[in-house]
Amino acid sequence: MNSNYTFPEGFIWGAATAAYQIEGKAAGDPMGLSIWDTFCKRESAIKDGSSGDDACRSIDFHERDIDALNYIGANAYRFSVSWPRLFPKEGGEVSPAGVDYYSRLIDDLLGNGITPFITLYHWDLPQYLEDKGGWQNRETAFAFADYAKKVVGLFQDRVEHWMTFNEISTGLGKGYRDGIFAPGLRLQGRELANVFHHAALAHALAVREIKTLAPTNQAGIVCDPLTPVPLLEDEEHIEACRKAYSAWSGYWLDPLLQGTYPEDYAGLPDIKEGDMDLLAPEIDFLGLNIYSGIYVRAGGEQGFEAIEFPRDYPSAHDLDWMKIVPPALYWGPRFATERYGADSIFITENGYSTDGALGKAETCNDLDRIHYIKHYLMHLHRAIREYGNIEGYFCWSLLDNFEWSEGYTKRLGLFHTDDKTFERVPKLSADWYRAVIRHNAIV
Ligand code: BG6
Repeated sequence: MNSNYTFPEGFIWGAATAAYQIEGKAAGDPMGLSIWDTFCKRESAIKDGSSGDDACRSIDFHERDIDALNYIGANAYRFSVSWPRLFPKEGGEVSPAGVDYYSRLIDDLLGNGITPFITLYHWDLPQYLEDKGGWQNRETAFAFADYAKKVVGLFQDRVEHWMTFNEISTGLGKGYRDGIFAPGLRLQGRELANVFHHAALAHALAVREIKTLAPTNQAGIVCDPLTPVPLLEDEEHIEACRKAYSAWSGYWLDPLLQGTYPEDYAGLPDIKEGDMDLLAPEIDFLGLNIYSGIYVRAGGEQGFEAIEFPRDYPSAHDLDWMKIVPPALYWGPRFATERYGADSIFITENGYSTDGALGKAETCNDLDRIHYIKHYLMHLHRAIREYGNIEGYFCWSLLDNFEWSEGYTKRLGLFHTDDKTFERVPKLSADWYRAVIRHNAIV
């Protein structure tokens, strides 16, 4: 096959999921509650009143997930482990049922030549920790480091790639500032700054644990900075984007990745002695989740202006934040590389949402998803040509799943999940992505 868009040899092609979004609960499951179990019970918290109680029932059908990965020919799978599944009680022993589940999953992945990439925290904090203040409580950072140490200890013989957090900005921002994700709080000022600071601390402590226990393992974090895209590609507008990048995300990215707080923000969280020395340990890779971007031009008081999207600008169905901006997959890695000197980057999420109300046949005829991913990949290809530090791409998501506060009203999978039989059916995009992987090129 002829393609102008061939990827480097050994490029990692995968798909991603998260525990609460796919696992469900087994009958008589000994797992503990997470903040999402609690949050889903709140009136109007979830668009369709649903929860992740069933989700895709991967807890019963993980072989089907492996089949799906094999179908597309993925060489890697990004999934998360659930803290309350592994540690149902505070200070308690690890759950043998939880260990058994992840152990079988890891073995089956490896047996099929699929490299596991594990996220330690994809938003499902144990409720017992939230009862003590959750991420508002500094002690949660230490609890997380201890949890990370135990999980890595359990699986490091078979798993090499670890991600501490998924999207601190969205997970904690929507959960502790906007009140629309678990635990549904609306904090401001110092209280909110502490939440982000504790997460930065937790990440740092966990990386230290991982590298002490398994020095040859790869430790990283998955971030989702807003991506500015220059309206015109000239130095003036690119410089404006750099300013926007820093203004929009510096307050949570800088402490994570360079161990500093921006000047106009420093001092806001409660920083204890020694904290700043701990922050931003060296990591082996940076994960970026990029779905959209914001067009920016030079001007205004801060030296940049975000250009408002017109009301009819194309976005994924009914998902206002998912504006379709393919160049974001070039500028996102570029700005992260420039600002934080990232040597190794994975695109840990990128994907497209369709309307959950569509029937199965229409859902599977997802030409729009192919269109979306294809154009994003073209821009990623440019970033690889220019920077050479991008090692892999994970499509979000492998399966249609529980989409947080959207419930099941949105579908982002390469595979349709039947809500009664939990059968996974490949969409057109799964066939297309499989060809991309087979040819290691955009087709
Ligand atoms: C990312 C998350 O922010 O976006 C995923 O890491 C999530 O867990 C995905 O599913 C899609 O977002 P939403 O809001 O449609 O669920």
